[in-house]
Amino acid sequence: MLASLVLPFLLAKATAETPALKPPQDATSVPRKAPIILEKSGGFNIGGKVIQHPVTNQTLTCDHGYMEYFIPWTPRTTGIVMWHSSSTQTFQNRWDGGEGFKDMFLRRDYPVYLWDAPRIGRAGWSCEPFYYQPDYRDSGNFIAWNFGPRPGEWWDDVQFPTENREYYWEQATGGRYIEFDTIANVHLQAEAAALSADYGMNGENIVYLTNSAAGLRAMMTVTKSNSTNIKSIVAYETVGLVYPEGQNITQGGPFGPFVVPEDDFKKLAQLKEIQFVFGDHRDESYMYVREARKVAELINGYGGNANVLKLGEDAGLLGSTHVAFADMDNDKVAGLLDELLARNGLDGY
Ligand SMILES: *[C@@H]1O[C@H](CO)[C@@H](O)[C@H](O)[C@H]1NC(C)=O
Ligand SMILES: *[C@@H]1O[C@H](CO)[C@@H](O)[C@H](O)[C@H]1NC(C)=O
Ligand SMILES: *[C@@H]1O[C@H](CO)[C@@H](O)[C@H](O)[C@H]1NC(C)=O
Repeated sequence: MLASLVLPFLLAKATAETPALKPPQDATSVPRKAPIILEKSGGFNIGGKVIQHPVTNQTLTCDHGYMEYFIPWTPRTTGIVMWHSSSTQTFQNRWDGGEGFKDMFLRRDYPVYLWDAPRIGRAGWSCEPFYYQPDYRDSGNFIAWNFGPRPGEWWDDVQFPTENREYYWEQATGGRYIEFDTIANVHLQAEAAALSADYGMNGENIVYLTNSAAGLRAMMTVTKSNSTNIKSIVAYETVGLVYPEGQNITQGGPFGPFVVPEDDFKKLAQLKEIQFVFGDHRDESYMYVREARKVAELINGYGGNANVLKLGEDAGLLGSTHVAFADMDNDKVAGLLDELLARNGLDGY
C-alpha cells in the first residue's frame, strides 16, 4: 500500500527549484491607524470525538476544529465568522499586506472569529491517517483565483498589486493549507461549525463570511444547525451549492452539488439574507454563478432572502478576484458588507 503511494511521488520528483523572493523594502510599512481596542482574544476547540485503539484501549481526542476569537471592547451583537477555503491569511491581510477584513471589522466593533475547520490549518489531530503528496497547483490557483484568463496573464484591471507583483503572487499562492476536499470533510466541518453555532460559542447573531468551498460548508452548517443563531451567509465565490431533494439534482462530489431533505433546506430560508458574491470577469456561463442563481431562487421559493451579487457588473468593482475581501479595493467590498449588515438589522450594539 505504502509503496504504491510513494512510487509515483518519487517518479514525479521536482526537476527544478527556485528560491523564494525577498520581501520588498516597503512590505511592512503600512500607514499607522487608530488602535483596535479588544476586551479579549483567544481560541477554543469544537466538535470532534474520542477514538479508542482496538488493542491497547488508549484514546485520542481528534477531529475538532479551532476557532480563534477577537472581541472588541464595545462589541456589536453580531459576530462575524470568517471561514476561509485554504488559509486564514486571506482574511488577515490584503494581497499587498495592507489591512484585511479581520481588522476592518474589528474597527467597526464586530466580534471576529477565524475558523480553522476540522483537519485544516490549526485544527487538531485527525482521527484518520492521511497522506500528503505535493500537487503542482500554482498555475491552477492563478486561474481559480480569477487573476487572469491564462496562467501568468493578468487581467488588465485586476485588483492585485502591480508593484512587486511576483513577490505578492508568491505570498498568495504559498500561504495555503491542505484543503481536505472530500464529501466526508464537508460534513465533518459543517457538523463542528453547527455545534459551535448552537452552543452559542459565536454569539446569537452569526454571519458567516466564506470563501470558495467554505460557502458549501456554511450552507451545510445551516442545514445541520438546530438553533436560530445563524443569521446570514455572505459567500464570496462559493464553489459548491446545496439543493433540496425533489429537484432532479444528483448528489455530486466534494464541490457539490449537495442534496439535503427539504426540511433541512428550508432552514436556509429562515436566514435574514444569503448573498452569493462573485468577482469580476465571471459571466453567466460560469457554473457556480448559474447554480447560485438557481439555489437563490429555490431558497426564495420557501420565503427566504437570497441573491447573487456580481461585484463587477452590479457594483462596479472591476477586476475583483476570487478572494475579493483581500483585493486592493477591499475597503469598497467591506462597504457592501456594511450595507448588508445594516439592512438586516445586524449592526446593532
Ligand atoms: C481493553 O478493553 C477490553 C474491554 O473492556 C478489555 O477486555 C481488555 O482487556 C482491554 N485491553 C487492555 C490492553 O487494557
Ligand atoms: C440537531 O438535532 C438532530 C436531531 O436531534 C441531531 O441528530 C443533530 O446532531 C443536532 N445537530 C447539532 C449540530 O447539534
Ligand atoms: C433529470 O435530469 C436528467 C439529467 O440532467 C435529465 O436527463 C432528465 O430529463 C431530468 N428529468 C426531469 C423529470 O426533469
